[in-house]
Amino acid sequence: MKQKIAPSMMCTPLFGIRECVETFERTGIDLLHLDVMDGSFVSNYTLGTNYVKELKAATRIPLDIHLMIEDPERKLDWFDFSEGDYVSVHYEATRHLHRALAAIKSRGAKAMVAINPATPISALDSVLDDIDAVLVMTVNPGFAGQKLVESTLKKIRRLRDSLDGAGYSHIEIEVDGNVSFENAGKMREAGASIYVAGSSSVFAKDGTLEENIAKMRGILEG
Ligand code: DX5
Ligand code: ZN
Repeated sequence: MKQKIAPSMMCTPLFGIRECVETFERTGIDLLHLDVMDGSFVSNYTLGTNYVKELKAATRIPLDIHLMIEDPERKLDWFDFSEGDYVSVHYEATRHLHRALAAIKSRGAKAMVAINPATPISALDSVLDDIDAVLVMTVNPGFAGQKLVESTLKKIRRLRDSLDGAGYSHIEIEVDGNVSFENAGKMREAGASIYVAGSSSVFAKDGTLEENIAKMRGILEG
């Protein structure tokens, strides 16, 4: 499976978004990760509908929209996404998971379920035919700059094994939260293939964005 890097747009400096996107395009970045937080499912507020719309119009890099919002099935129409984009909804945030996934797929996008660190992988059992990827939160959602919840490494391994064993090898695993240079290698070994790169990797202060992307690629492809 191709190893994909998805830089977290909430980590870009407000007045440097254009420059960051140009660097992502030049370096062949696979996906742009957008965290949408509603102050209710998680306590923080981040990128909203207008941000998604403007970014979608400004680049051809596919979007990876991570909806940390309550009842996403009621609000999917507000977001600009189409074929080739990835959209994830949280298992914990909806009573109508299947409806939400079907609505994403009906627009040609890749449908994903996101699960918090304490949510068991069995929560996915009934929707395996309806998803293209699983987003495994490796920190509790809401804020950048947190420390890895170590038990999630075993969870990624268990999920990869159970997907492969049940004939779902095509379902990708995305990891989000403290995907540092060190942790990315372990996550890869455990079976991840999409990496949300935030303050602990590509936006780390001790290298330039370009250097950090090259370093991450080396770790994932080495
Ligand atoms: C939340 C975000 C954060 C963050 C990832 O879903 O995606 O987890 O930006 O980067 P780190 O954890 O490295 O700051
Ligand atoms: Zn995210």
